[in-house]
Amino acid sequence: MGWRWHLPGVEKKRHESETLDGWEEGMKKNILCIGAGYVGGPTMAVIADRCPEYRVQVADINEARIRAWQSGEPPIYEPGLKEVLARSLNRNLFFTTNADQAIEEADIIFVSVNTPTKTFGEGAGLAADLQHWERTARQIKARARSPKIVVEKSTVPVRTAEAMDYILNAGGGVHFEVLSNPEFLAEGTAIRDLMEPDRVLIGGRDTAEGKAAVQSLVEVYAHWVPRERILTMDVWSSELSKLASNAFLAQRISSINALSGLCEITGADVRDVATAVGMDRRIGPHFLNAGVGFGGSCFQKDLLNLVYLCEGHGLHNEAEYWRQVVRMNEHQRHRFVRGMLAHMFNTVVGKRIAIFGFAFKANTGDTRESPTIHICRQLVEERAQVVVHDPQALDNARSDLSDLGDAVIFEPDPYRAAEGAHAIALLTAWNLYAQLDYRRIYERMIQPACLFDGRNQLDAEALFRIGFNVYAIGRTPRTH
Ligand code: NAD
Ligand code: UGA
Repeated sequence: MGWRWHLPGVEKKRHESETLDGWEEGMKKNILCIGAGYVGGPTMAVIADRCPEYRVQVADINEARIRAWQSGEPPIYEPGLKEVLARSLNRNLFFTTNADQAIEEADIIFVSVNTPTKTFGEGAGLAADLQHWERTARQIKARARSPKIVVEKSTVPVRTAEAMDYILNAGGGVHFEVLSNPEFLAEGTAIRDLMEPDRVLIGGRDTAEGKAAVQSLVEVYAHWVPRERILTMDVWSSELSKLASNAFLAQRISSINALSGLCEITGADVRDVATAVGMDRRIGPHFLNAGVGFGGSCFQKDLLNLVYLCEGHGLHNEAEYWRQVVRMNEHQRHRFVRGMLAHMFNTVVGKRIAIFGFAFKANTGDTRESPTIHICRQLVEERAQVVVHDPQALDNARSDLSDLGDAVIFEPDPYRAAEGAHAIALLTAWNLYAQLDYRRIYERMIQPACLFDGRNQLDAEALFRIGFNVYAIGRTPRTH
């Protein structure tokens, strides 16, 4: 039984490669993930950790990324990841640039390649760019010698699995069963989210082969996820549920942000409003933190994808509804910069402004779609001297703003970043920023010293007492 695959009647052939280091007889499944990024790497590290009898390979075309994974120093910053990786690396978890060989060996192939917003041609700026996904599917088809379960892990438009099924099974040959298994992890908490997911979602076809494939994937997750949290449904519902989940989360952020401006004017405190609203069990307390807007590689991308899908099906009002969530997000970061300008006598020309935090959220080095990128660019347009600090994202920040030259300085020490500054803008809620000695910082700043708290992270009252003029999102300014 050790070598049987879970689709009925299909015997798994042994391969020469099974004599590779770490591949022991008796291992029950051979899993491959194509794409070793923020999702593929951590997800496979957890599967390998929780399923020691499976052999897990992760393939990527990015050699530097693969070398980093192989070295035990992940190419991404994610709390707890290094420890989980260390438990399985070179035991039953392997990283490779040779996807071809890994495809031949695999029973289950996860595809976790990037699906960014399309930047060219039809649907540019809205639709998902599926070129990496399709290339991967064609590679799987070209190399597979035995039936495979192909798992759509990337976030994709509804009915992508159908297209993939069509490509993979065109012209006959070995059979491919395509499943949807969207990922819900959030960066910064990826390991906890993977270890204790609210739910695992698996979409499959309502056929004997489809059900067997779903069951095979359920068995993987059932190693550590309670069965009642493993949800199975049809492929299209699964694909849409992923887009819908991100749309709902993003919508909550835009909703609270839409109230923050009103709070600042009326004297209400957006944190109190969020607490009061969130205590209603029908609403719930999460994702109601007002701030400078959501960033990250997915919310905007997935919302725009939903907009594109709705428009494509003639659902223009629905498209407009979701588009507004993105517009509100863009508005919020513009509003933040406009507020900075207004409170700094309508000019920041030549003024040093320290930016605390560049990652799109705390506990990650990821800066994709970080609101800070837009805020820094706007400040540079206003001819400010911008000094960026971040404990994990400075390398990414350098590359994101590489075209701005001397207008931006990257500073690894937050005290030095703030030295001689007219203002600090806190844009990522790293714990570190709550622990700094603000008296020391204040004394080395140009007076009047302004602190713009874009995440409501700091004790505004204490800062005001030190001498700062404090402007926190959704709250009345405290000024001297
Ligand atoms: P990523 O860019 O970090 O990783 C994707 C990887 O795929 C890259 O390393 C890239 O080199 C590799 N790749 C691309 N084409 C390839 C090919 N032909 N062969 C081998 N490797 C290839 O992206 P990510 O953040 O991991 O996201 C992957 C997918 O998961 C996206 O669809 C995203 O929407 C979704 N998702 C992301 C998150 C998140 O928090 N980042 C959470 C849930 C879902
Ligand atoms: C988000 C979702 O939370 C995940 O479930 C999903 O899997 C993932 O997108 C994805 O599909 O990529 P992520 O973007 O990593 O995860 O991080 P979040 O914690 O959702 O934060 C996203 C952005 O919203 C950050 O910029 C964060 O600062 C902001 N945010 C979040 C707020 O402004 N207020 C909040 O109350 C919560």
